[in-house]
Amino acid sequence: PDRELSAAVLAGMRNIPDFPEPGVTFKDFTPLLLDRPLRDRIVADTVRRRQGQVDVVAGIEARGFILGAMIAHELGVGFVPVRKAGKLPAAVHTQSYTLEYGEATLEIHQDAVDHRERVLVVDDVLATGGTLAATCELVQRCGASVAGIELVLEIGALGGRARLTDYDLHSLVTV
Ligand code: PRP
Repeated sequence: PDRELSAAVLAGMRNIPDFPEPGVTFKDFTPLLLDRPLRDRIVADTVRRRQGQVDVVAGIEARGFILGAMIAHELGVGFVPVRKAGKLPAAVHTQSYTLEYGEATLEIHQDAVDHRERVLVVDDVLATGGTLAATCELVQRCGASVAGIELVLEIGALGGRARLTDYDLHSLVTV
């Protein structure tokens, strides 16, 4: 593990108190996107780890689109958006999952990935793991396999990793 990179990423994120609700401190990764050298190192780190093992990158709405597209570009492979319900225009696979309060639904275009393709799943944060578990399920419903999961930040106390033990999961920073 690149401890120096992890420390730089942690230092580059911004803590926003009481967002999205009172008592919650939100870790904002948007400053990392403005820091061109650091952003390049984040993308290069993933590319070094995954090069040659990925046929397509799937990014999760919304922040997973940003990093996922950059990683796909550098890996030289295609990019697939995994979106919230009702946003994708063509035929979709749909997966619902439980949130702390209520339910959420994610979708993928049925023809976005081919059978037997190796898909790298990218998002910014792992919290409870519901979003990533649903995304991996969608990838597999397309007949493809999950080559791995790449994240910037993992919130260890929420235990999301325990729901994703079937996958090769890497996060740059764990808090
Ligand atoms: C956040 C984050 C992950 C997800 C992690 O997305 O970007 O996708 O939550 O939570 P989980 O591990 O508990 O499932 P959010 O729902 O805020 O969507 P957004 O990126 O569109 O704002």
